[in-house]
Amino acid sequence: MDGLRDVVAAETVLSDVDGAAGRLIIRGFTLDELVGRMSFEQACRLLLDGMFDDLPGEEGLRLRLGAARVHAFAEVSALDAELRSRPPLEAVRALTARLPDGDGLDVALALLAAPAVFTPAVIRAGRGLDPVKPDATLGHAADLLRMLNDQPPTPAEAAALDAYLVTIVDHGLNASTFAARVAASTLAGLTSAALAGVSALKGPLHGGAPGPVIDMLDGIGAPENATRWLEAALDRGDRLMGFGHGVYRVRDPRADGLKRTVQTLAAASPELPGRLRLAEAVEAAALDILKRRKPDRPLNTNVEFYTAVLLEALGFPHEAFTCVFAAGRICGWIAHAREQVLSGRLIRPSSRYVGPMPREAA
Ligand code: ACO
Repeated sequence: MDGLRDVVAAETVLSDVDGAAGRLIIRGFTLDELVGRMSFEQACRLLLDGMFDDLPGEEGLRLRLGAARVHAFAEVSALDAELRSRPPLEAVRALTARLPDGDGLDVALALLAAPAVFTPAVIRAGRGLDPVKPDATLGHAADLLRMLNDQPPTPAEAAALDAYLVTIVDHGLNASTFAARVAASTLAGLTSAALAGVSALKGPLHGGAPGPVIDMLDGIGAPENATRWLEAALDRGDRLMGFGHGVYRVRDPRADGLKRTVQTLAAASPELPGRLRLAEAVEAAALDILKRRKPDRPLNTNVEFYTAVLLEALGFPHEAFTCVFAAGRICGWIAHAREQVLSGRLIRPSSRYVGPMPREAA
């Protein structure tokens, strides 16, 4: 019961996580069949199919999402000094909370656009730079990178971010998706469901891990320091970020795809090969140590480890990595929220009371 492990809380047609086999299925496709073959917009079309009566086809959805980015940009003007001083995810969440609630496709598209538009604006504000307006004609991933750097990304960079967004678009009943479904089950609306999701994503045990992965790589500095540093971290009682998973007992299938994406990018980068070598050395040392220290608990590389290396290589600051995660996962939250409303009922589990009982009347 603790942590609801193995409790089935929803039926879904959206995705299945097979923790023993290390396999993720999204609407009948394996991850390998989707990543690198489908854009983020196409993955959204796949997940949202059947969830809205007026869902357009692939090209229509791409155009509507581009228009929604332009529309969402109006909210960036609310990025005041107070919000700029907050961690990026809190600023992105606050801007997203300005969007009206509702259950229709327009609300869904505004939400899909929101983190992709707000994240680069928040990062640029932190750097003292003005926000860059969206370009509705570009692909979602390419536009996100253009809004970050105020110049078009290379095709390889755009493809890498697209691959990342598709990789993390949905993943069974993870903590943030469950939170989104609970909010949706009260008929609160899609914006409320997405805000519940983004709040649950924030913590380091879920979507907040890749930032600390970079702290770990920076702390280790060189491959030869890895074992000593990692042993010391575990001696202090720390967890190694980017390792272990609530469901996978083998390697997270998303980790391999992201590593391949980093390898592709590294071919055209002067600095990335060195960073990748460090990451590989840290990964190998961590797996070795975790196996030795926790022989009964399979602890493997999870999605967050190579996410960190990839998003760093694409120019995102590590404190904003979770915002980029939200930019992909928000599609999963919306699809699950719609599925919950269309086919589920109010989620209302029970608790077992273990506190004191009132004294019997004398
Ligand atoms: N480093 C060291 N020890 C670990 C790690 C880790 N990364 N993960 C689990 N353990 C140990 C725990 O200390 C515990 O040991 P104990 O039984 O001696 O107390 C045992 O393994 C089981 O841990 P649980 O917390 O019960 O495992 P759970 O399946 O609930 O946790 C979680 C999964 C939260 C992801 C965990 O592995 C963790 O904290 N990892 C580091 C953070 C991280 O990478 N999060 C991103 C996850 S991916 C995602 O959400 C997108």
